[in-house]
Amino acid sequence: MMWTGLIVLAFIIYHLAHFTLYWTNSDYGKLEDVVAPNHTRHDVYAMVTHAFSNPIVVAIYLAAMAVVFVHLSHGVASMFQSLGLSNHRWSKIRRRASRVVVGLLILGFIAVPLGVKFGLVERNPKEKGAKNAVSHTTSANTKDAASR
Ligand code: HEM
Repeated sequence: MMWTGLIVLAFIIYHLAHFTLYWTNSDYGKLEDVVAPNHTRHDVYAMVTHAFSNPIVVAIYLAAMAVVFVHLSHGVASMFQSLGLSNHRWSKIRRRASRVVVGLLILGFIAVPLGVKFGLVERNPKEKGAKNAVSHTTSANTKDAASR
């Protein structure tokens, strides 16, 4: 539990550096989506699809989610034990139920990197002249287009 907890903590630090502080790619902070005249918002879609087109990043997230699964399914089962479901009959149900619930949560998390990696999520639909197309010129996108 302690080791998986430390790995989850390391993942959270990496994750914030990646998607919140943009330390791994400073161009991510410049990605903007024009939603109305004179109104833009950070383009999380472009950031996420760019990030998960790198197989190493996908592998890091999948490995981290496997550790989150182990840590959280044990943690949820322990939480219900602390709340009193601790006899022999309940301990089996408790462990199975926490694995199922946490497993569903993890499936939701990994759907994002896997969806991008396997092309279920389009990398940049705006480039294909989709409806509501917006101009999108940041250095991250320029670099992105050049790498394709
Ligand atoms: C495959 C799994 C995951 C994916 C694809 C993912 C995706 C993201 C993305 C795209 C953002 C940035 C959102 C934005 O800029 O508006 C974000 C932020 C964040 N994520 Fe995750 N995440 C995952 C797993 C996790 C896990 C397991 C945790 C916690 C244990 C977590 C905690 C956070 C936190 C604290 C933020 C910062 C929120 C903020 O900046 O306001 N994420 N995540």
